[in-house]
Amino acid sequence: MKTPWYYKTTIYQIYPRSFYDSNHDGIGDLKGILSKLDYLHKLGFETLWISPFFSSPQADLGYDISNYTDIAPEYGTMDDALQLIEEVHKHGMRIVFDMVMNHTSIEHDWFRESRSSRDNPKSDWYIWRDKPNNWKSMTGGSGWHYAKERGQYYWSSFLPMQPDLNYRNPEVKKAMFDIVRFWLAKGVDGFRLDIFNVIYKDAEFRDNPFSTKLVPTEDDASGFFQESKYTMNQPESFAFAKELRNVCNEFGEKILLGEIQGNTKTIKNYMTEKGDGLGLVFNFEMLNFKFSADFFHRLISKIEKDFPSPFMPVYVFSNHDRRRSIHRINEDVRKAKLLHLLQLTVRGVPCMYYGEEIGMTDSKFSFGSALDPIPHKYTFVPRIFLDSIGLTVNRDEVRTPMQWDGTKNAGFSSAQKTWLPIHENHKTINVETETKDVESLLNAIRKLLKIRKEESAFSEGTLDLLDNLPKDVLGYKRKSGTDEFVVLLNFGMKDKEFEVEQGNCIFRLSEKDAMKNNKVVLSGYGGVILKVSQ
Ligand code: GLC
Repeated sequence: MKTPWYYKTTIYQIYPRSFYDSNHDGIGDLKGILSKLDYLHKLGFETLWISPFFSSPQADLGYDISNYTDIAPEYGTMDDALQLIEEVHKHGMRIVFDMVMNHTSIEHDWFRESRSSRDNPKSDWYIWRDKPNNWKSMTGGSGWHYAKERGQYYWSSFLPMQPDLNYRNPEVKKAMFDIVRFWLAKGVDGFRLDIFNVIYKDAEFRDNPFSTKLVPTEDDASGFFQESKYTMNQPESFAFAKELRNVCNEFGEKILLGEIQGNTKTIKNYMTEKGDGLGLVFNFEMLNFKFSADFFHRLISKIEKDFPSPFMPVYVFSNHDRRRSIHRINEDVRKAKLLHLLQLTVRGVPCMYYGEEIGMTDSKFSFGSALDPIPHKYTFVPRIFLDSIGLTVNRDEVRTPMQWDGTKNAGFSSAQKTWLPIHENHKTINVETETKDVESLLNAIRKLLKIRKEESAFSEGTLDLLDNLPKDVLGYKRKSGTDEFVVLLNFGMKDKEFEVEQGNCIFRLSEKDAMKNNKVVLSGYGGVILKVSQ
């Protein structure tokens, strides 16, 4: 099988509201992204995933869409979207839209009509029941909500203003596939698929079994004392992945990147052995990484065992829903460099969140004033408890505006007030400062992306973990044809010196990292890439 382009790519996630504001209203927009394409191109990412910018009441900041083929005015116009697709391509990059297929906004015309009576033409486009069963939503509490117009309850997997579509109705499927075709015809290179694992729910509405689990985890979405047996990962959802792949195939080789909560077997059911399902699914278990050689040794071995070639894993450490990776390493930039050395040299598609390349950190906001709807559900729970179990409840904290420079509003906007406050550390953590600093995280990432582009062993080669390395050191070999590279990463704070294969050091994290008389020297949190083939 010819390797599809999206197995070899590198992905950068843009949260449009926070990237760059071109029209001075304090909100990032499509023209803003357009004006930063040179930056992204020089940085070296190959694929841009843009979070939703379609018409929406913004109750869930765009993940509640009221018109899939129109642009929310604060983000721009259809012409801007078309220009963005064109310009991204002119820059030699690809563009991926965010497809929220599971649910619409409560303000979508389809839902208005569906809610209006029990016998309108769209009455069956959403999931209606006379009585709720015991199903809980992904955000906690019952997912059934009463609509007085019909005297019935509608189902919503996420929040009440995001009613789930009924894909058992062929008209719904056709309408959504036509939207997919609409954007593919405009040149989009594929989609990131929002909560794809809940697309189908049990046809018989059987009650979910009891579970002792309170908090859902990446590999098992059961939570709130309930198994998600009948609300998630139904066999029909796996089949739907294939149908969607077929629709995309009408337009060539398109990326389908799934947001799935589930174990390995479930994820593979969506990806399929033949690659005729989604193709790519985020490997979310690593969002909760521990900064240690042991952790990553275990993670990589597991991934290599569970997702061997031709499967391709996706290495992701941050996104718009979760704490930024740097939060989990005490905001230590040396550790961040090591983490991204790993992310950009392992066997897998790396996906980085805007600002991660400069080490942007999370803010801390009160729940009561959040724009994100989720914290409003949890104002009664002590923050200290939520933090201690590792939940990111107020997602505003990880969505603050991009820090371009040290001036007012971090160079993000010239408005009086930005949609979320700028992080106070923008004076030191910003693109301008880090571009000038040869030792910066930004420059390390730029160099690594360049190496990854030039040396196909990193995007296409095999991976073998190395054994017998000193404590706290992780190492692996990447190989493609006669090209061989060894990557060595020191997760400890002490310097290390040990013997390895003779090789040429083509990348070092710190000046002290070196290859000396057959020995490699790694400083604390240091790392190198050695070219070991001729
Ligand atoms: C996904 C998105 C998240 C959104 C939710 C509902 O998890 O990443 O931001 O709130 O789905 O669409």
